Amino acid sequence: MRSAGIDKTKRKFTSTVALVTSEHNGRANVMAAEWSLRVSIEPYLVAVFVGYRRGTYAMIRDSGEFGLNYCSDKQAGLSSISGNYSITEGKDKWSLGDFSTFSASKIRAPMIGGCLMNLECVVVDELQTGDHAAFIGKVVEGYVDDSKRPLIYHGGRYFSLGPRIEKDIS
Ligand SMILES: Cc1cc2nc3c(=O)[nH]c(=O)nc-3n(C[C@H](O)[C@H](O)[C@H](O)COP(=O)(O)O)c2cc1C
Repeated sequence: MRSAGIDKTKRKFTSTVALVTSEHNGRANVMAAEWSLRVSIEPYLVAVFVGYRRGTYAMIRDSGEFGLNYCSDKQAGLSSISGNYSITEGKDKWSLGDFSTFSASKIRAPMIGGCLMNLECVVVDELQTGDHAAFIGKVVEGYVDDSKRPLIYHGGRYFSLGPRIEKDIS
């Protein structure tokens, strides 16, 4: 049954979870982001929305690069660590969880192992949208692991992908 209420709508979005990696002045960071998506086919562009107060915001703005590491459904714990602690509070998130990393080939930020997909991105634009900035990134390298399934975020909770539904176009 339908009920009215703007606030209730805010918990009905469904998203992936990306671990956004950044590096500046020799320091690397990781934060969780439910707000990221592909925004252009050719050129291949993605957007990630980052709050201005996040440590990650200044690191991406100043380095001009970021990594988007899409969580598998085995990485909810890494998402929670990345999303509940901040480099601005002096937290070393890397030591709080079982993060495995590998070197990117075209950006300085580390990439996260065990993910569904990893994208190396170079910032081509920044849009100021409300209380978050949209960093538009050109994808300059990418990796996939077909054995992984995506982590889903809905209503403040984590889920794994449900059963496939056939396209009914008859
Ligand atoms: C599941 C989840 C999703 C999140 N999505 C976003 C997001 O899309 N954009 C954002 O700015 N913050 C998001 N956050 C909050 C940041 O990850 C959080 O503020 C983090 O501590 C920032 O870290 P930093 O200050 O070290 O960059 C999310 C947190 C969680 C747990």
